[in-house]
Amino acid sequence: MVNKTVKKTSDSTIISLDKNRLPRHIAIIMDGNGRWARSKGLVRTLGHENGVDALRRIATASAEIGIEYLTVYAFSTENWHRPKSEVKALMSILVRALRKELSTLLDNNIRLQAIGEIALLPNEIQKQLREVIQLTSEGDRMALTLALSYSSKEEILRATRLLAEDVQRGFLLPENITEEVFENYLYTRGMPHPDLLIRTSGEYRISNYLLWQLAYTELYFSPKLWPDFTKEDLYQAIAEYQKRERRFGLTSEQLNENT
Ligand code: IPE
Ligand code: IPE
Ligand code: MG
Repeated sequence: MVNKTVKKTSDSTIISLDKNRLPRHIAIIMDGNGRWARSKGLVRTLGHENGVDALRRIATASAEIGIEYLTVYAFSTENWHRPKSEVKALMSILVRALRKELSTLLDNNIRLQAIGEIALLPNEIQKQLREVIQLTSEGDRMALTLALSYSSKEEILRATRLLAEDVQRGFLLPENITEEVFENYLYTRGMPHPDLLIRTSGEYRISNYLLWQLAYTELYFSPKLWPDFTKEDLYQAIAEYQKRERRFGLTSEQLNENT
């Protein structure tokens, strides 16, 4: 039976989502905070502050409609090369957000996770992250994963190094390295691959995000700047996803035979 959920947008457009065909895992590249601020004559940092509000909106809306995994790009390895003052401001926004949003996570039964080179983050953030991850670990409605100091190429290299060590120690034979084995060495171990990737701000690139995991993900690009991204925009992206045919290399006919 088709199980529809009907959402009304602010301009009264009706978005109808099929509850049986929701993406299990949504990945987001939250881009456009700086341009959002600049368009309003504000400092870039205020764009990041408003980006946190957008994340709260989208994470709670995702949990509410039944998304199991939401993985968001919050800070890339390359972002360390931004002006010192911006990096510092981003870190302080992050530590404040972790403190402030603990109750949002607990209220919504969301467990927090982090991927990336967490050890490179300031100690205060590492401590705060560990605390929030531990305190929300029972949240079984949705996993919210923050990609922090994250680079997909670094993730793949790290996995390769760990794998090589295991081979060297004799724990693993090279001929037994399958996709499944390799995935166990990635930060995203145990998580399903994203079904849908959303990138905001009108940029059409992946920017070193989840390169392995996105192999068969449906891509959705929104012109909206991240701080302006609403839950209706999220529903719109999911509605578009539900119109796609995920063929995984097969033909349309093959897929229809099996239904
Ligand atoms: C995304 O917004 C947030 C981070 C990369 C930390 P940007 O800061 O990249 O905003 P734009 O792309 O300059 O507008
Ligand atoms: C990607 O955005 C990283 C995050 C959203 C955290 P960037 O703004 O850093 O990406 P580029 O530089 O436009 O590719
Ligand atoms: Mg950007």
